[in-house]
Amino acid sequence: MPIVTYILRDGERREIDVPVGTSVMEAAIQHNVRGIDAECGGCLSCATCHVYVDATSTAELAPPDDSELELLDGVATERRPESRLSCQLVVVAAMDGLVVQIPARQG
Ligand code: FES
Repeated sequence: MPIVTYILRDGERREIDVPVGTSVMEAAIQHNVRGIDAECGGCLSCATCHVYVDATSTAELAPPDDSELELLDGVATERRPESRLSCQLVVVAAMDGLVVQIPARQG
């Protein structure tokens, strides 16, 4: 299974085997990764699943679509070029090595 690394607010790193077809948000919730709130459950309406793709990430990601880009305008912390909504990052094999940072706050 692809491995996704979550860097928590305190710097702790959590490496999780994520089944293909599971979103980065869903895997975080299932493994009690702190800092991804996902208030809407992944229906692309809350922006509380914001993450930053870390510069060390080796994953190949599809670019965000227009709906994700629009919602990223409403994130609670600074929006950066590497900002993504983790509910939209559905894991495929090419995403092995993905490293995401949890922002300081979600709401
Ligand atoms: S979980 Fe609400 S937008 Fe991602």
